[in-house]
Amino acid sequence: WTGAGLAMLIGYGLGSIPFGLLISLAAGLGDVRKIGSGNIGATNVLRTGKKWAAALTLLLDGGKGVAAVLIAGALFGPSGAMVAGLAAVFGHVLPVWLKFKGGKGVATYIGVLLGIYWPVGLLVIVTWLTMAFVLKYSSLSALTAAALAPAFMMAFGELTWAVFTLVLTIVIFITHHENIYRLWHGKEPRIGEKKH
Ligand code: G3P
Repeated sequence: WTGAGLAMLIGYGLGSIPFGLLISLAAGLGDVRKIGSGNIGATNVLRTGKKWAAALTLLLDGGKGVAAVLIAGALFGPSGAMVAGLAAVFGHVLPVWLKFKGGKGVATYIGVLLGIYWPVGLLVIVTWLTMAFVLKYSSLSALTAAALAPAFMMAFGELTWAVFTLVLTIVIFITHHENIYRLWHGKEPRIGEKKH
């Protein structure tokens, strides 16, 4: 239990660092929560017009997911990695530092998958990129990639990780409920579009 508690702390501690907000503030781009979708993720940081800030947000939000899983995995084994991975995504979505109003968890989710089972993480990235290239909706790309991720785990025979991934996928769908509503009504902005 001590191990699980520590893994949770490591995951939550890393996951709850709001890189998108910190980067946009540090770069003088203002509070990213006041523009576009109000999200602190890379997609919304891109709406500031600064590609490098969005790329850095993506890298660091993903990196904290990878780091949480690898550190906890090294210290406490696969179950530690699992707890830290879940906690990292929850930390990003519900950061205590921002009164529990965080991001949607996609980059961190992908980072966690890369840390846990990189071939699936890679397939998820390829799915996201393909969807984004064709349809140009960040949210729809994330939802498609997340929906397929448990199936990818199953295809590799990783049943336990498939169940774990499914739990995280459900979290991603919940955090995207507004995007799903907008997509359904044809009101979702495409990548880089500032209007909402
Ligand atoms: O990763 C979040 C993305 O899927 C949607 O972001 O800002 O368009 O709601 P946003």
